[in-house]
Amino acid sequence: MTRSIAVDGPSGAGKSTVGHSFAERIDATFVDTGLMYRALTLAALDGGVDLEDAVALGRLAAESSISVERPGVGQSDRFETVRLAGRDVTHEVRTPRVDRAVSAVSRHAGVRDAMLGIQRTAAQREDVVMVGRDIGTVVLPDATLKVYLTADAVVRARRRAAEMGRPDRVDDYLAEIRLRDDADSQRAVAPLRIPEGALVLDTGKLDVEGCVDAIAARLEELDA
Ligand code: DC
Repeated sequence: MTRSIAVDGPSGAGKSTVGHSFAERIDATFVDTGLMYRALTLAALDGGVDLEDAVALGRLAAESSISVERPGVGQSDRFETVRLAGRDVTHEVRTPRVDRAVSAVSRHAGVRDAMLGIQRTAAQREDVVMVGRDIGTVVLPDATLKVYLTADAVVRARRRAAEMGRPDRVDDYLAEIRLRDDADSQRAVAPLRIPEGALVLDTGKLDVEGCVDAIAARLEELDA
């Protein structure tokens, strides 16, 4: 039996940092599902697909070849490499134009159905730490362990501004984060929710190691 750890939470809560670090600790594969939605968004923007057109986006999702893989030797600028039709788009999917469009693309049922298959297959193959918005609630409802990471929106905006080297732009990041929180938690299909039985951690109060230790402790309890 493979083990799966589902990590959900809002934008900027630290899911990738904590999830990747925990995956290393238990020697599991780290899968960031946000990257998949980002790659599809890039394909839609580049292909001029209307972001309101659910049918066209569903078709694009079903036809696109999107994969995530462990980074190559020396690629220390990333936790994962994401490919769109074989092309490395890891940096391109983090640009502001993708940031602004990704919530609109990921709210469509056809898009989510196409992603679900890829994500579940990954979790059947090997031990995974999978991060996203609906992993514990929809993608892996029988996950070995469910974790929900969160932090106050202001904390997340300050963190984002520091990462981007723009401490003067905290208010802009805060506005973006609030918009994305609303879009992700209010959509009709697979909205962001705390999964039942999840370990809830506040990354504004616990640092990365504190979170990783807490997750490890919970997993040990379950294994015992
Ligand atoms: O985690 P992130 O910021 O890279 O995610 C980008 C967007 O993708 C986010 O606004 C919502 C969407 N997403 C989703 O709907 N479901 C997931 N499992 C992961 C991401």
